[in-house]
Amino acid sequence: MKALILSGGKGTRLRPITHTNAKQLIPIANKPILFYGIEAIKEAGIVDIGIVIGETKNEIRQAVGDGSKWGVKITYIVQDEPLGLAHAVKISRKFIDQDSFVMYLGDNLIKDGIKSLVEEFEAKKPNAQILLAHVPHPEQFGVAELLEGRVVRLEEKPKHPRSDLALCGVYMFDQSIFEAVDNIKPSLRNELEITDAIQYLIDTKMKVHPHIITGWWKDTGKLEDMLEANSIILDTFTFKNDGRVDDKSKIEGKVVIEKGAVIENSVVRGPAIIGENAKVINSYVGPYSAIYFGACIESSEIEHSIVLENSHIIDIKRIEDSLIGQNVEVKKSHSRPQAYRIMVGDSSKIEVL
Ligand code: G1P
Repeated sequence: MKALILSGGKGTRLRPITHTNAKQLIPIANKPILFYGIEAIKEAGIVDIGIVIGETKNEIRQAVGDGSKWGVKITYIVQDEPLGLAHAVKISRKFIDQDSFVMYLGDNLIKDGIKSLVEEFEAKKPNAQILLAHVPHPEQFGVAELLEGRVVRLEEKPKHPRSDLALCGVYMFDQSIFEAVDNIKPSLRNELEITDAIQYLIDTKMKVHPHIITGWWKDTGKLEDMLEANSIILDTFTFKNDGRVDDKSKIEGKVVIEKGAVIENSVVRGPAIIGENAKVINSYVGPYSAIYFGACIESSEIEHSIVLENSHIIDIKRIEDSLIGQNVEVKKSHSRPQAYRIMVGDSSKIEVL
């Protein structure tokens, strides 16, 4: 069995971060989202992985390399235009060859991994296996309608969903999906939808096995989802200190302090992670915060937030529920006239007091 990770999307719902960054490389608990997928696939015993890349191909290649750091073999497949998930399958035919495969959307996270799901697919041998989860807003996903345990209809982001069962971004296919992707037409958003390809399998009497997952799953396409994923992963941590904490600081609960990190005269309340060479000085870092490498929090308070590499937060009373990009500087100004002075990227969101 092989695996295909789709990592081509533009990440429009996470702008401005995704103007300069692949969304799949945004760190959740200080690890790029994409790496969780690679690890889940490896854990399921699959080592031959194709990654479909688009506009952000260079960044992804640079971050993932040849896969040797995970003991897997990575083949890159370039999708010149984002023409849909089923289009990504189409252009990956040569890589998949005669195998069955797991298709994994690079911005999805499944906390319990996919090992047992791959085993179920291999034992039951359906033509396709889809994962479904009960969600509060099914209209934001592909939605499945089941009848006596069988999938009878799938619809991509329907205005009036027929159930609350969302298609999760992990699918398993045998060779019949290639016939399906060749027989569907682009959707209204001008993409070849994998949802339509699976509907084709249903219509042509192929076996589509639904597996309803009960564990935690997240499509991290939006800020709230990303913060939630960050919280869930941080919650699984246990205390570890590889950095330096002075005796005026207090570290409470599940806190991971990575190599070279420095904490001075501060309180860090877990679950939280302080990345390599990051600094926390005269500050409070509260639960569900992930401070990435080289970042600096000085004379500030922050909670339930993600701060990316090398950003500086200085003299800020309190930051919550935020995602702060790379090399950002947020600081209190002491000069006159007193004013907000900002240079922010396109599509940014700022809430001021
Ligand atoms: C895609 C699929 C959708 C699925 C979702 C899961 O949506 O088209 O059916 O429910 O992934 O993450 P997209 O994120 O491309 O809008």
